[in-house]
Amino acid sequence: MTTHDITLTVDGTTEELTVESRTLLVHALRDRLDYTAPNVGCDSGKCGACTVGLDGDAVKSCTVLAVQADGSDVTTAAGLGGDDLHPVQTALHEAHGLQCGYCTPGIATTAVDLLDTNPDPDRDEIRAALKGNVCRCTGYQNVVDAIERVADEAEENADSAFGDSGDPAETPAGGDDS
Ligand code: FES
Ligand code: FES
Repeated sequence: MTTHDITLTVDGTTEELTVESRTLLVHALRDRLDYTAPNVGCDSGKCGACTVGLDGDAVKSCTVLAVQADGSDVTTAAGLGGDDLHPVQTALHEAHGLQCGYCTPGIATTAVDLLDTNPDPDRDEIRAALKGNVCRCTGYQNVVDAIERVADEAEENADSAFGDSGDPAETPAGGDDS
């Protein structure tokens, strides 16, 4: 049995462990390190329950060997918002997009990656991004609502920040009267 000493940074904590060559990242996280946010639904890359952020990209951690992740930053759903909830998690709660604890962590992680790469997705793009997160008990309606809500709020905040950046009286629309 060949083993490897690896280092992962998981939700901001440096973890050193020895794994077999065949150890999957999800098993290293759950069984060796007790990070239980990524779940094992299918163990074959189909359900998305094991999705984590790996150096900023959402990946199914049952499709990655732990040794391949050596030296990487891993973000589980529990670490998405640091000490607080991530806005995606808050929106899932408020829009009634929370499903069972099995699928939701993967859905939240996927949504965060989507919004990182496409801050203003339309509903079709949101649904396309969620294709790899298979849930047997939702029509995804409220999940899509939640992700759309985060995108809309980010856009509104960007707008208001722009609006606050100067005194409107000094820059009247329509030009300068002088
Ligand atoms: S457990 Fe990884 S995709 Fe299902
Ligand atoms: S949310 Fe868990 S099976 Fe659908």
